[in-house]
Amino acid sequence: MTQLSATQVLRDNHKTIRGLFRQYEGVRRKTPEMRDGVVRELFMMLDVHFRLEEEFLYPLVAHTGSEPGTALTDDCEREHASIRALIQGLRRRGTRDEFFDTGFTNLVTTCEEHLAREEGELFLLAESELAEALSEDGLAESMENRRKALIAAPEYRDARPEVVQNPHGGEQMRKIPGERKAG
Ligand SMILES: [Fe+2]
Repeated sequence: MTQLSATQVLRDNHKTIRGLFRQYEGVRRKTPEMRDGVVRELFMMLDVHFRLEEEFLYPLVAHTGSEPGTALTDDCEREHASIRALIQGLRRRGTRDEFFDTGFTNLVTTCEEHLAREEGELFLLAESELAEALSEDGLAESMENRRKALIAAPEYRDARPEVVQNPHGGEQMRKIPGERKAG
């Protein structure tokens, strides 16, 4: 089996996040429940992904002590902080607020810039300077395990997606656990 590198895992996370941006586009004019589901999952995915980068990748890059590496991780950490602040604001507003959609569009733009910067600068730098460390046995697996453990944490209980079949067609719909009260 080919050993996945740490940056490949993170690039895959980025794909998932971009997929959720597109899903939001698809549901923004549909029911609030469908919108809520995508938004909750996206907020969880962003938070989990940032934590993985901050726990695994940024320290590795910072550890090399290279000037561009430290400058980049500092910038990326600052960008994580501003994205977290945007998420906080959107959470407070709630998806039913009339300005939620505008705020969400701003979040997407800010995230897209950040993801592109990581892929185009930080990941490339890490891949050229830390190729061996990134492909080290067990690193990608530890990240994947950590990701699963974070997603399973009680704080994300409402955000875990449960995909169910749409009875009216082949399309998959999203059901959020806990959304419908039993009884
Ligand atoms: Fe990232």
